[in-house]
Amino acid sequence: MRANKHASVQAGEVLLCAPFGKDAEILATIVSSEGLQAVPCPSLKEIAAQVCDLTDSIFLTEEALASSSLKTLEKFLLHQEPWSDIPIILFSSAGATASVGLTRFLSQLGDNANVSILERPVRTPTILSVLRTAKRARSRQREVRDLLLQEKRSAANLRTARDELERRVQERTSELSDTNLELNREIKERKRAEAHLRSLTAKVLNIQDEERRRIARDLHDGVGQTLAGALMAAAQARSCGAQLPAACESELRQIEDLLQQGTREVRTVSHLLHPPLLDESGLMSAIRWYVEEFSKRSRIEVTLELDEETNRLTQEIKTAVFRIVQEALTNVYRHSKAQVARIEIKSDETCLLLKIKDNGKGIPASVLSVAPDGKTGVGVASMRERATLLGGVFGIQSDSEGTTVSVSIPIPRISRIASA
Ligand SMILES: Nc1ncnc2c1ncn2[C@@H]1O[C@H](COP(=O)(O)OP(=O)(O)OP(=O)(O)O)[C@@H](O)[C@H]1O
Ligand SMILES: [Mg+2]
Repeated sequence: MRANKHASVQAGEVLLCAPFGKDAEILATIVSSEGLQAVPCPSLKEIAAQVCDLTDSIFLTEEALASSSLKTLEKFLLHQEPWSDIPIILFSSAGATASVGLTRFLSQLGDNANVSILERPVRTPTILSVLRTAKRARSRQREVRDLLLQEKRSAANLRTARDELERRVQERTSELSDTNLELNREIKERKRAEAHLRSLTAKVLNIQDEERRRIARDLHDGVGQTLAGALMAAAQARSCGAQLPAACESELRQIEDLLQQGTREVRTVSHLLHPPLLDESGLMSAIRWYVEEFSKRSRIEVTLELDEETNRLTQEIKTAVFRIVQEALTNVYRHSKAQVARIEIKSDETCLLLKIKDNGKGIPASVLSVAPDGKTGVGVASMRERATLLGGVFGIQSDSEGTTVSVSIPIPRISRIASA
């Protein structure tokens, strides 16, 4: 089949193969009167060569079917595009029997052949009517062709869009997975750094506690013993029996007073650095002693609500709780202007709860907004760390009516078992 040779021509064409001469001329006139173009073809082979989308119908005569090129036309008609079924208007010879060519042609094309047979002689209105029917049929076929084409284009567009979408999704997915990898790496790195920092903090706090314990012992065993020795020497001087001159007596008393005052101070400082009660009598006694001393010196009234002493607490928990109480009360004294404070310590099988509450002016909002991560001073940060290192939770609530420091620390299973 030739390509659409008249791309710009809207009207269809009718291929005519025989009759020649006058009949051909009449047919051509009828075809032209319908606004169609008649294309005379001298052979069936020529018809097959001329057929294109513009072809509206093919006029054939029965005699032309006797041609040896019938096979070429049959082949073409049997292999048309799915949408195409060119109407064939066949002028048969008058008579009861069809020619061999016609019979063969019809049987080759099969039941669905679009063939209209007009027995000659045929009147012009009959030709016109058949021609118009063929034209309408062909026009519907072209509509189907256009729809199929449109569908094909839409499918192609859809495929392209889907491919593009898939490509973009793949691109995005790979970008996301890269970002995800990067994020995971950063999270791991950050966790590692945090763990490292935590273990360093734990070491620093331990070293600090140990150092305080050592200084406390050195003070007690060193300066404390020296002062005790001096006091004993003074007592010995007094007990030697000799009457001292009044001036010496008063000097000696002054020396004894100073030595006693020094002993008291050394003991207080050494107790503050490391309360021996924490090891010997336990946490609650150490806190009672500390609070008593604190109240005396600060003139802040501190009430205590403590659970019964419990042996279930590990040394680490006791030290942490004592140091948190120390720091929280020091903050109350230094920053709050409170008159009263209250300490609560409660514990059950699994957890120890600690609260230190004051009725002071509260932590300024500007400090509180950065204070949650303990960046304003060492005190809050170290209270938080001590709690966190033991798997606990630390919090501060503060407003113009006062401040509450809250801590909860889990009691490890092993220490629970040990106490059973
Ligand atoms: N009970 C409180 N009442 C009012 N303000 C407080 C209280 N506790 C803490 N603050 C405020 O929070 C800040 C942070 O306290 P933090 O203990 O961390 O540091 P600091 O006491 O200033 O210094 P240090 O490092 O010696 O403890 C304080 O400077 C103070 O402004
Ligand atoms: Mg502080």
